[in-house]
Amino acid sequence: MEAPKKLFIKTYGCQMNVYDSERMAEAMGAEGYVQTETVEEADMVLLNTCHIREKASEKLYSDLGRLRNLKAAKPEMKVGVAGCVAQAEGAEILRRMPLVDLVVGPQSYHRLPAMVKAEGRQVDTEFPTEDKFDHLPQRKGYRGPTAFLTVQEGCDKFCAFCVVPYTRGAEVSRPASRLLKEARDLVARGVREITLLGQNVNAYHGEDRTLAGLIREMAQIEGLDRLRYTTSHPNDMGDDLIAAHAEVPQLMPYLHLPVQSGSDRILKAMNRKHTAAHYLDLIGKIRQARPDVLLTSDFIVGFPGETDQDFQETMRLVRAVGYGAAYCFKYSARPGTPAAEKTPVPSDVADARLQELQGLILAQQQAAQQAMVGQVVEVLYEKPGRLPGQMVGKSQHLMAVHVQDATGKTGDLVRARVTSAVTNSLSAVLL
Ligand code: SAH
Ligand code: SF4
Ligand code: F3S
Repeated sequence: MEAPKKLFIKTYGCQMNVYDSERMAEAMGAEGYVQTETVEEADMVLLNTCHIREKASEKLYSDLGRLRNLKAAKPEMKVGVAGCVAQAEGAEILRRMPLVDLVVGPQSYHRLPAMVKAEGRQVDTEFPTEDKFDHLPQRKGYRGPTAFLTVQEGCDKFCAFCVVPYTRGAEVSRPASRLLKEARDLVARGVREITLLGQNVNAYHGEDRTLAGLIREMAQIEGLDRLRYTTSHPNDMGDDLIAAHAEVPQLMPYLHLPVQSGSDRILKAMNRKHTAAHYLDLIGKIRQARPDVLLTSDFIVGFPGETDQDFQETMRLVRAVGYGAAYCFKYSARPGTPAAEKTPVPSDVADARLQELQGLILAQQQAAQQAMVGQVVEVLYEKPGRLPGQMVGKSQHLMAVHVQDATGKTGDLVRARVTSAVTNSLSAVLL
Protein backbone atom coordinates (compact mmCIF):
# COMPACT_ATOMS: atom_id res chain seq x y z
CA MET A 1 0.00 0.00 0.00
CA GLU A 2 1.13 3.52 -0.74
CA ALA A 3 2.18 5.53 2.32
CA PRO A 4 -0.36 8.26 3.13
CA LYS A 5 0.51 11.74 2.00
CA LYS A 6 1.22 14.30 4.69
CA LEU A 7 -0.50 17.65 5.09
CA PHE A 8 0.90 20.49 7.19
CA ILE A 9 -1.56 23.28 8.06
CA LYS A 10 -0.74 26.58 9.71
CA THR A 11 -3.69 28.65 10.91
CA TYR A 12 -3.74 32.39 11.57
CA GLY A 13 -6.57 34.68 12.66
CA CYS A 14 -9.88 33.94 14.30
CA GLN A 15 -11.67 30.78 15.49
CA MET A 16 -13.52 30.65 12.20
CA ASN A 17 -10.19 29.92 10.55
CA VAL A 18 -9.47 27.22 13.14
CA TYR A 19 -12.78 25.60 12.22
CA ASP A 20 -12.07 25.99 8.49
CA SER A 21 -8.64 24.37 8.90
CA GLU A 22 -10.27 21.36 10.57
CA ARG A 23 -12.74 21.07 7.71
CA MET A 24 -10.00 21.39 5.07
CA ALA A 25 -7.97 18.71 6.85
CA GLU A 26 -11.04 16.45 6.75
CA ALA A 27 -11.61 17.17 3.05
CA MET A 28 -7.99 16.27 2.33
CA GLY A 29 -8.25 13.28 4.68
CA ALA A 30 -10.86 11.84 2.33
CA GLU A 31 -8.16 12.05 -0.36
CA GLY A 32 -5.70 10.05 1.73
CA TYR A 33 -3.80 12.89 3.41
CA VAL A 34 -2.92 12.68 7.11
CA GLN A 35 -1.92 15.73 9.11
CA THR A 36 1.66 16.30 10.25
CA GLU A 37 3.16 18.78 12.71
CA THR A 38 6.49 18.70 10.90
CA VAL A 39 6.65 20.92 7.86
CA GLU A 40 9.80 19.19 6.51
CA GLU A 41 7.93 15.91 5.92
CA ALA A 42 4.87 17.50 4.30
CA ASP A 43 3.67 16.64 0.80
CA MET A 44 1.44 19.65 1.03
CA VAL A 45 1.67 22.85 3.06
CA LEU A 46 -1.48 24.89 3.57
CA LEU A 47 -1.37 28.38 5.10
CA ASN A 48 -4.80 29.48 6.32
CA THR A 49 -4.41 33.23 6.50
CA CYS A 50 -5.86 36.34 8.17
CA HIS A 51 -6.18 39.80 6.62
CA ILE A 52 -7.57 41.75 9.58
CA ARG A 53 -4.47 43.86 10.34
CA GLU A 54 -1.39 44.58 8.26
CA LYS A 55 0.86 42.54 10.56
CA ALA A 56 -1.37 39.46 10.29
CA SER A 57 -1.41 39.75 6.54
CA GLU A 58 2.36 40.16 6.23
CA LYS A 59 2.98 36.93 8.14
CA LEU A 60 1.93 35.04 5.01
CA TYR A 61 4.79 36.51 3.01
CA SER A 62 7.41 35.92 5.68
CA ASP A 63 6.23 32.31 6.07
CA LEU A 64 6.29 31.77 2.32
CA GLY A 65 9.81 33.21 2.26
CA ARG A 66 10.86 30.60 4.81
CA LEU A 67 9.30 27.80 2.75
CA ARG A 68 11.33 28.68 -0.33
CA ASN A 69 14.33 26.42 0.44
CA LEU A 70 12.11 23.49 1.31
CA LYS A 71 10.20 23.83 -1.95
CA ALA A 72 13.48 24.11 -3.90
CA ALA A 73 14.64 20.84 -2.35
CA LYS A 74 11.22 19.19 -2.81
CA PRO A 75 9.58 20.66 -5.93
CA GLU A 76 6.72 18.12 -5.81
CA MET A 77 5.57 19.54 -2.46
CA LYS A 78 2.37 21.54 -2.96
CA VAL A 79 2.00 24.96 -1.34
CA GLY A 80 -1.51 26.32 -0.84
CA VAL A 81 -2.77 29.64 0.53
CA ALA A 82 -6.27 29.68 2.00
CA GLY A 83 -8.28 32.11 4.14
CA CYS A 84 -8.81 35.84 4.07
CA VAL A 85 -5.53 36.97 2.44
CA ALA A 86 -6.25 34.43 -0.31
CA GLN A 87 -9.66 36.03 -0.76
CA ALA A 88 -8.35 39.60 -0.71
CA GLU A 89 -5.29 39.16 -2.93
CA GLY A 90 -6.16 36.13 -5.09
CA ALA A 91 -4.00 35.75 -8.17
CA GLU A 92 -1.68 38.51 -6.93
CA ILE A 93 -0.24 35.92 -4.52
CA LEU A 94 0.67 33.63 -7.45
CA ARG A 95 2.36 36.57 -9.19
CA ARG A 96 4.38 37.61 -6.15
CA MET A 97 5.21 34.12 -4.91
CA PRO A 98 6.26 31.58 -7.57
CA LEU A 99 6.36 28.75 -5.02
CA VAL A 100 2.60 28.93 -4.42
CA ASP A 101 0.60 26.28 -6.30
CA LEU A 102 -2.92 27.21 -5.28
CA VAL A 103 -4.94 30.00 -3.73
CA VAL A 104 -8.37 29.21 -2.29
CA GLY A 105 -10.81 31.61 -0.62
CA PRO A 106 -12.86 30.82 2.50
CA GLN A 107 -16.04 30.12 0.52
CA SER A 108 -14.52 27.69 -1.99
CA TYR A 109 -12.37 25.38 0.07
CA HIS A 110 -14.63 22.40 -0.58
CA ARG A 111 -13.01 22.53 -4.02
CA LEU A 112 -9.54 22.10 -2.51
CA PRO A 113 -9.18 18.36 -3.29
CA ALA A 114 -10.01 18.95 -6.96
CA MET A 115 -7.60 21.89 -7.10
CA VAL A 116 -4.79 19.80 -5.65
CA LYS A 117 -5.30 17.13 -8.31
CA ALA A 118 -5.59 19.57 -11.21
CA GLU A 119 -2.68 20.43 -13.50
CA GLY A 120 -1.02 23.83 -13.13
CA ARG A 121 -1.42 26.64 -10.64
CA GLN A 122 -4.97 27.27 -9.38
CA VAL A 123 -6.96 30.20 -7.95
CA ASP A 124 -10.52 30.04 -6.64
CA THR A 125 -11.85 33.06 -4.77
CA GLU A 126 -15.45 32.89 -5.89
CA PHE A 127 -18.44 33.13 -3.63
CA PRO A 128 -20.14 30.07 -5.12
CA THR A 129 -23.90 29.66 -4.96
CA GLU A 130 -23.63 26.11 -3.60
CA ASP A 131 -23.06 25.65 0.12
CA LYS A 132 -19.52 24.43 0.78
CA PHE A 133 -20.73 22.53 3.84
CA ASP A 134 -22.86 20.29 1.61
CA HIS A 135 -19.72 19.23 -0.23
CA LEU A 136 -17.49 18.49 2.74
CA PRO A 137 -17.09 15.04 4.27
CA GLN A 138 -18.77 14.18 7.59
CA ARG A 139 -16.81 15.04 10.69
CA LYS A 140 -15.59 11.52 11.41
CA GLY A 141 -12.18 12.17 12.86
CA TYR A 142 -13.08 14.63 15.55
CA ARG A 143 -11.46 14.02 18.94
CA GLY A 144 -11.64 16.06 22.11
CA PRO A 145 -14.24 17.41 24.52
CA THR A 146 -14.66 20.85 22.94
CA ALA A 147 -15.49 21.85 19.38
CA PHE A 148 -16.22 24.88 17.25
CA LEU A 149 -19.25 24.92 15.00
CA THR A 150 -19.67 27.65 12.38
CA VAL A 151 -23.33 28.68 12.25
CA GLN A 152 -23.08 31.95 10.40
CA GLU A 153 -20.52 33.50 8.11
CA GLY A 154 -19.88 36.87 6.58
CA CYS A 155 -20.90 40.34 7.63
CA ASP A 156 -23.14 43.11 6.34
CA LYS A 157 -22.14 45.68 8.94
CA PHE A 158 -19.27 47.39 7.12
CA CYS A 159 -17.49 48.95 10.08
CA ALA A 160 -15.27 51.59 8.50
CA PHE A 161 -12.01 49.87 9.51
CA CYS A 162 -12.81 46.23 8.73
CA VAL A 163 -12.02 43.89 5.82
CA VAL A 164 -14.31 41.04 6.90
CA PRO A 165 -17.34 42.05 4.76
CA TYR A 166 -14.99 41.92 1.76
CA THR A 167 -13.09 38.73 2.59
CA ARG A 168 -15.98 36.68 3.97
CA GLY A 169 -18.80 38.20 1.93
CA ALA A 170 -22.40 38.83 2.87
CA GLU A 171 -23.96 37.42 6.00
CA VAL A 172 -25.23 33.85 5.54
CA SER A 173 -26.76 31.58 8.21
CA ARG A 174 -26.53 27.80 7.92
CA PRO A 175 -29.80 25.85 8.22
CA ALA A 176 -30.63 25.05 11.84
CA SER A 177 -31.55 21.42 11.12
CA ARG A 178 -28.09 20.74 9.73
CA LEU A 179 -26.38 22.48 12.61
CA LEU A 180 -28.37 20.39 15.07
CA LYS A 181 -27.30 17.26 13.21
CA GLU A 182 -23.66 18.33 13.19
CA ALA A 183 -23.88 19.08 16.92
CA ARG A 184 -25.43 15.63 17.61
CA ASP A 185 -22.63 13.99 15.59
CA LEU A 186 -20.01 15.88 17.57
CA VAL A 187 -21.61 14.88 20.89
CA ALA A 188 -21.74 11.24 19.74
CA ARG A 189 -17.96 11.49 19.32
CA GLY A 190 -17.45 12.71 22.88
CA VAL A 191 -17.76 16.48 22.52
CA ARG A 192 -19.31 18.07 25.64
CA GLU A 193 -18.86 21.75 24.83
CA ILE A 194 -19.66 23.51 21.57
CA THR A 195 -18.81 27.08 20.68
CA LEU A 196 -21.08 28.45 17.97
CA LEU A 197 -19.10 30.64 15.61
CA GLY A 198 -19.93 33.52 13.32
CA GLN A 199 -18.43 36.88 12.39
CA ASN A 200 -21.77 38.19 13.63
CA VAL A 201 -23.02 35.13 15.40
CA ASN A 202 -25.95 36.80 17.14
CA ALA A 203 -27.34 37.95 13.79
CA TYR A 204 -28.00 34.24 13.12
CA HIS A 205 -31.34 33.59 11.42
CA GLY A 206 -31.59 30.11 9.92
CA GLU A 207 -34.89 28.34 9.22
CA ASP A 208 -36.87 30.85 11.29
CA ARG A 209 -34.62 30.52 14.32
CA THR A 210 -32.72 33.27 16.02
CA LEU A 211 -29.47 32.42 17.78
CA ALA A 212 -31.44 32.14 21.03
CA GLY A 213 -33.79 29.62 19.39
CA LEU A 214 -30.87 27.58 18.08
CA ILE A 215 -29.22 27.61 21.50
CA ARG A 216 -32.41 26.44 23.19
CA GLU A 217 -32.71 23.52 20.76
CA MET A 218 -29.05 22.56 21.08
CA ALA A 219 -29.40 22.59 24.85
CA GLN A 220 -31.85 19.67 24.45
CA ILE A 221 -29.08 17.43 23.10
CA GLU A 222 -28.29 14.79 25.70
CA GLY A 223 -24.61 14.95 26.68
CA LEU A 224 -24.01 18.49 25.45
CA ASP A 225 -23.10 20.16 28.74
CA ARG A 226 -21.86 23.54 27.61
CA LEU A 227 -22.65 26.08 24.91
CA ARG A 228 -20.86 29.28 24.03
CA TYR A 229 -21.04 31.64 21.06
CA THR A 230 -18.76 34.24 19.52
CA THR A 231 -18.46 36.97 18.14
CA SER A 232 -21.46 39.13 18.85
CA HIS A 233 -22.33 42.62 17.74
CA PRO A 234 -24.08 44.89 20.28
CA ASN A 235 -26.83 45.77 17.78
CA ASP A 236 -27.90 42.14 17.42
CA MET A 237 -28.04 41.42 21.15
CA GLY A 238 -31.80 40.73 21.22
CA ASP A 239 -33.93 40.37 24.34
CA ASP A 240 -34.50 36.68 23.56
CA LEU A 241 -30.74 36.04 23.60
CA ILE A 242 -30.36 37.90 26.88
CA ALA A 243 -33.23 35.83 28.28
CA ALA A 244 -31.47 32.64 27.15
CA HIS A 245 -28.55 33.63 29.38
CA ALA A 246 -30.93 33.59 32.33
CA GLU A 247 -32.83 30.46 31.37
CA VAL A 248 -30.52 27.99 29.60
CA PRO A 249 -28.17 26.42 32.15
CA GLN A 250 -25.91 25.00 29.43
CA LEU A 251 -25.21 28.50 28.12
CA MET A 252 -22.02 29.54 29.89
CA PRO A 253 -21.84 32.84 31.81
CA TYR A 254 -19.34 34.36 29.42
CA LEU A 255 -19.85 36.91 26.68
CA HIS A 256 -17.44 38.48 24.22
CA LEU A 257 -19.13 41.70 23.15
CA PRO A 258 -16.75 43.99 21.27
CA VAL A 259 -17.37 47.73 21.57
CA GLN A 260 -14.18 49.09 19.90
CA SER A 261 -14.39 52.57 21.47
CA GLY A 262 -16.11 54.47 24.28
CA SER A 263 -16.44 57.70 22.30
CA ASP A 264 -19.70 58.35 20.46
CA ARG A 265 -17.88 60.50 17.92
CA ILE A 266 -15.49 57.66 17.09
CA LEU A 267 -18.23 55.00 17.20
CA LYS A 268 -20.07 57.06 14.59
CA ALA A 269 -16.95 57.45 12.43
CA MET A 270 -16.43 53.68 12.73
CA ASN A 271 -20.00 53.11 11.49
CA ARG A 272 -20.80 50.99 14.54
CA LYS A 273 -24.35 52.38 14.66
CA HIS A 274 -24.66 52.46 18.45
CA THR A 275 -23.55 54.76 21.24
CA ALA A 276 -21.54 54.11 24.38
CA ALA A 277 -24.72 54.58 26.45
CA HIS A 278 -26.55 51.96 24.38
CA TYR A 279 -23.71 49.50 25.01
CA LEU A 280 -23.64 50.20 28.75
CA ASP A 281 -27.39 49.75 28.85
CA LEU A 282 -27.04 46.34 27.20
CA ILE A 283 -24.35 45.31 29.66
CA GLY A 284 -26.75 46.25 32.46
CA LYS A 285 -29.49 44.02 31.02
CA ILE A 286 -27.13 41.10 30.48
CA ARG A 287 -25.83 41.35 34.04
CA GLN A 288 -29.36 41.49 35.33
CA ALA A 289 -30.18 38.26 33.45
CA ARG A 290 -26.95 36.53 34.46
CA PRO A 291 -25.22 38.28 37.37
CA ASP A 292 -22.09 36.10 37.23
CA VAL A 293 -21.44 36.74 33.52
CA LEU A 294 -17.81 37.50 32.60
CA LEU A 295 -17.51 40.10 29.85
CA THR A 296 -14.75 40.54 27.32
CA SER A 297 -14.35 42.95 24.41
CA ASP A 298 -12.21 44.20 21.54
CA PHE A 299 -10.88 47.76 21.34
CA ILE A 300 -9.20 49.73 18.60
CA VAL A 301 -7.04 52.70 19.61
CA GLY A 302 -5.75 55.35 17.22
CA PHE A 303 -8.68 55.21 14.82
CA PRO A 304 -8.40 58.23 12.44
CA GLY A 305 -9.59 61.36 14.22
CA GLU A 306 -9.34 59.90 17.76
CA THR A 307 -8.43 62.69 20.18
CA ASP A 308 -7.11 62.35 23.73
CA GLN A 309 -10.62 63.11 24.93
CA ASP A 310 -12.10 60.33 22.76
CA PHE A 311 -9.53 57.96 24.14
CA GLN A 312 -10.31 58.96 27.73
CA GLU A 313 -13.94 58.12 27.01
CA THR A 314 -12.80 54.61 26.07
CA MET A 315 -10.91 54.39 29.37
CA ARG A 316 -14.04 55.56 31.19
CA LEU A 317 -16.19 52.91 29.50
CA VAL A 318 -13.70 50.20 30.42
CA ARG A 319 -13.78 51.34 34.06
CA ALA A 320 -17.57 51.39 33.99
CA VAL A 321 -17.88 47.83 32.63
CA GLY A 322 -15.04 45.97 34.36
CA TYR A 323 -13.89 43.30 31.89
CA GLY A 324 -12.55 39.82 32.48
CA ALA A 325 -10.20 40.34 29.54
CA ALA A 326 -10.06 42.23 26.26
CA TYR A 327 -8.09 42.40 23.05
CA CYS A 328 -6.69 45.85 22.40
CA PHE A 329 -5.50 46.67 18.90
CA LYS A 330 -3.69 49.57 17.38
CA TYR A 331 -5.64 50.73 14.34
CA SER A 332 -4.26 49.35 11.10
CA ALA A 333 -5.35 50.95 7.82
CA ARG A 334 -6.63 48.23 5.48
CA PRO A 335 -6.77 48.59 1.71
CA GLY A 336 -10.28 49.08 0.37
CA THR A 337 -11.89 50.14 3.67
CA PRO A 338 -13.36 53.66 4.06
CA ALA A 339 -11.25 54.54 7.11
CA ALA A 340 -8.04 53.91 5.17
CA GLU A 341 -8.66 57.18 3.29
CA LYS A 342 -8.53 59.24 6.50
CA THR A 343 -5.53 60.92 8.11
CA PRO A 344 -4.03 58.53 10.67
CA VAL A 345 -3.27 59.33 14.29
CA PRO A 346 0.53 59.58 14.77
CA SER A 347 1.93 56.13 15.47
CA ASP A 348 3.63 57.06 18.76
CA VAL A 349 0.37 58.58 20.08
CA ALA A 350 -1.51 55.37 19.22
CA ASP A 351 1.24 53.29 20.85
CA ALA A 352 0.98 55.27 24.08
CA ARG A 353 -2.81 54.87 24.14
CA LEU A 354 -2.49 51.16 23.48
CA GLN A 355 -0.16 50.80 26.47
CA GLU A 356 -2.44 52.80 28.74
CA LEU A 357 -5.52 50.77 27.77
CA GLN A 358 -3.69 47.46 28.00
CA GLY A 359 -2.52 48.41 31.49
CA LEU A 360 -6.08 49.01 32.64
CA ILE A 361 -7.38 45.81 31.01
CA LEU A 362 -4.57 43.77 32.57
CA ALA A 363 -5.46 45.12 36.02
CA GLN A 364 -9.12 44.21 35.45
CA GLN A 365 -8.18 40.73 34.24
CA GLN A 366 -6.01 40.14 37.30
CA ALA A 367 -8.83 41.33 39.57
CA ALA A 368 -11.31 38.98 37.85
CA GLN A 369 -8.93 36.04 38.23
CA GLN A 370 -8.20 36.91 41.87
CA ALA A 371 -11.93 37.16 42.60
CA MET A 372 -12.26 33.44 41.79
CA VAL A 373 -10.05 32.36 44.71
CA GLY A 374 -12.14 30.43 47.22
CA GLN A 375 -14.96 29.85 44.72
CA VAL A 376 -16.18 26.52 43.37
CA VAL A 377 -15.79 26.16 39.61
CA GLU A 378 -16.74 23.49 37.12
CA VAL A 379 -13.84 22.40 34.97
CA LEU A 380 -14.01 20.51 31.67
CA TYR A 381 -10.65 18.77 31.31
CA GLU A 382 -8.98 19.37 27.95
CA LYS A 383 -5.59 17.73 28.55
CA PRO A 384 -3.12 16.54 31.18
CA GLY A 385 -1.14 19.34 32.83
CA ARG A 386 2.63 19.68 32.94
CA LEU A 387 2.95 18.30 36.47
CA PRO A 388 2.34 14.60 37.16
CA GLY A 389 -1.27 13.87 38.11
CA GLN A 390 -2.43 17.29 36.98
CA MET A 391 -5.28 18.06 34.55
CA VAL A 392 -6.01 21.34 32.74
CA GLY A 393 -9.37 22.56 31.55
CA LYS A 394 -11.65 25.55 31.35
CA SER A 395 -14.07 26.94 33.90
CA GLN A 396 -17.55 28.23 33.03
CA HIS A 397 -15.87 31.64 32.56
CA LEU A 398 -13.37 30.20 30.06
CA MET A 399 -10.54 30.60 32.55
CA ALA A 400 -7.80 27.96 32.39
CA VAL A 401 -7.81 25.86 35.58
CA HIS A 402 -5.13 23.43 36.83
CA VAL A 403 -6.47 20.65 39.04
CA GLN A 404 -4.48 17.98 40.89
CA ASP A 405 -6.40 14.83 39.90
CA ALA A 406 -4.39 11.63 39.43
CA THR A 407 -7.35 9.68 38.02
CA GLY A 408 -8.79 12.53 35.91
CA LYS A 409 -9.28 12.04 32.18
CA THR A 410 -9.67 14.41 29.26
CA GLY A 411 -13.40 15.07 28.86
CA ASP A 412 -14.25 14.79 32.57
CA LEU A 413 -16.37 17.62 33.97
CA VAL A 414 -15.46 18.13 37.63
CA ARG A 415 -16.11 20.54 40.48
CA ALA A 416 -13.12 22.12 42.17
CA ARG A 417 -12.35 24.90 44.62
CA VAL A 418 -9.97 27.61 43.43
CA THR A 419 -6.96 27.99 45.71
CA SER A 420 -4.83 30.53 43.82
CA ALA A 421 -4.84 32.69 40.73
CA VAL A 422 -2.33 34.22 38.34
CA THR A 423 -3.10 36.40 35.29
CA ASN A 424 -3.80 33.54 32.89
CA SER A 425 -4.74 30.57 35.03
CA LEU A 426 -6.26 29.30 38.25
CA SER A 427 -5.22 26.42 40.51
CA ALA A 428 -7.94 24.40 42.16
CA VAL A 429 -8.47 21.34 44.36
CA LEU A 430 -10.93 18.63 43.41
CA LEU A 431 -14.13 18.46 45.45
N1 SAH B 1 -16.97 40.41 13.97
C1 SAH B 1 -16.32 40.82 15.11
C2 SAH B 1 -14.82 40.99 15.04
C3 SAH B 1 -14.09 40.83 13.80
S1 SAH B 1 -12.40 41.20 13.75
C4 SAH B 1 -16.95 42.10 15.60
O1 SAH B 1 -17.72 42.72 14.93
O2 SAH B 1 -16.63 42.50 16.70
C5 SAH B 1 -11.79 41.11 15.38
C6 SAH B 1 -11.33 42.42 15.92
O3 SAH B 1 -10.25 42.92 15.18
C7 SAH B 1 -12.35 43.52 15.87
O4 SAH B 1 -13.29 43.45 16.90
C8 SAH B 1 -11.50 44.76 15.96
O5 SAH B 1 -11.28 45.14 17.29
C9 SAH B 1 -10.18 44.31 15.35
N2 SAH B 1 -9.97 44.94 14.05
C10 SAH B 1 -10.69 44.78 12.92
N3 SAH B 1 -10.19 45.55 11.93
C11 SAH B 1 -9.12 46.21 12.45
C12 SAH B 1 -8.21 47.17 11.93
N4 SAH B 1 -8.29 47.62 10.69
N5 SAH B 1 -7.24 47.63 12.76
C13 SAH B 1 -7.14 47.20 14.04
N6 SAH B 1 -7.97 46.31 14.58
C14 SAH B 1 -8.96 45.81 13.80
FE1 SF4 C 1 -15.90 43.69 10.91
FE2 SF4 C 1 -17.74 45.26 11.97
FE3 SF4 C 1 -18.47 43.09 10.63
FE4 SF4 C 1 -17.28 42.86 12.99
S1 SF4 C 1 -19.28 43.82 12.60
S2 SF4 C 1 -16.79 41.68 11.16
S3 SF4 C 1 -15.82 44.54 13.00
S4 SF4 C 1 -17.45 44.88 9.77
FE1 F3S D 1 -8.86 37.24 10.04
FE2 F3S D 1 -10.57 36.49 8.22
FE3 F3S D 1 -10.95 35.83 10.75
S1 F3S D 1 -9.54 38.43 8.30
S2 F3S D 1 -10.04 37.54 11.83
S3 F3S D 1 -9.29 35.17 9.47
S4 F3S D 1 -12.51 36.36 9.27
